[in-house]
Amino acid sequence: MATGEPLIVLDGVNKWFGPLHVLDDVSLSVGKGEVVVVIGPSGSGKSTLCRTINRLEPITSGTITFDGQPLPAEGKALAKLRSEVGMVFQSFNLFAHKTILENVTLGPVKVRKEKASVARERGLALLDRVGIANQADKFPAQLSGGQQQRAAIARALAMQPKAMLFDEPTSALDPEMVGEVLDVMTSLAGEGMTMVVVTHEMGFARHAANRVIFMADGQLVEDAPPSQFFANPRSERARDFLSKILTH
Ligand SMILES: Nc1ncnc2c1ncn2[C@@H]1O[C@H](COP(=O)(O)OP(=O)(O)OP(=O)(O)O)[C@@H](O)[C@H]1O
Ligand SMILES: [Mg+2]
Repeated sequence: MATGEPLIVLDGVNKWFGPLHVLDDVSLSVGKGEVVVVIGPSGSGKSTLCRTINRLEPITSGTITFDGQPLPAEGKALAKLRSEVGMVFQSFNLFAHKTILENVTLGPVKVRKEKASVARERGLALLDRVGIANQADKFPAQLSGGQQQRAAIARALAMQPKAMLFDEPTSALDPEMVGEVLDVMTSLAGEGMTMVVVTHEMGFARHAANRVIFMADGQLVEDAPPSQFFANPRSERARDFLSKILTH
């Protein structure tokens, strides 16, 4: 469903943490409706890359545009960007003392100034869409990890984002719950959501991604369709990485 029209564009992006060059001249364009899976060894900069896109992390040099606009640094424009770029983390990050439905409606009411009744109705519809409508009035701790992560996805979707970033959304889950979260992500991809997904789930990469990006030492080493990447990675580093994760 990718249209080719760019939504997220990084151009010559560098990020330093003190002496550490964490993003090294990264250029990347993600088209509307595209699903890009990011893989690479620990410490290669995958999370940092994600976090720069909604400006949780400022960059040292280069440019990032979202939907044609340079990322705003602060204020209302930044709040708008954060609502337009949903993010789902490894740790579900739900508000522990709020119900699942409240978690989902809080942003729309507070940030988007939606009427409570409208937010509630949409929130319930979103919980239904991720398969946890019957958990609406529970608190996060009463849900399984997989259910909590689906609630976190619903919460991000409630802001009606133009893109979704996922940073290892299934890494903290028990194995039997990985599938239910990947199913939600796969259907989201099928509906045309623009997605950047850091994951070790190579099945998801094969089936749902338009492109796979391999990072190493802050550099974007490969950028290829999954069929090509998995069958024939060009770099020694990607081959080595794949042989490690596919055999364990
Ligand atoms: N806030 C920070 N301050 C200093 N260094 C940081 C900070 N955040 C990340 N780093 C460093 O930047 C590098 C890239 O980190 P990043 O978290 O982006 O890697 P990653 O590819 O997501 O790794 P993992 O697979 O373990 O999640 C690492 O060397 C990390 O230690
Ligand atoms: Mg990471």
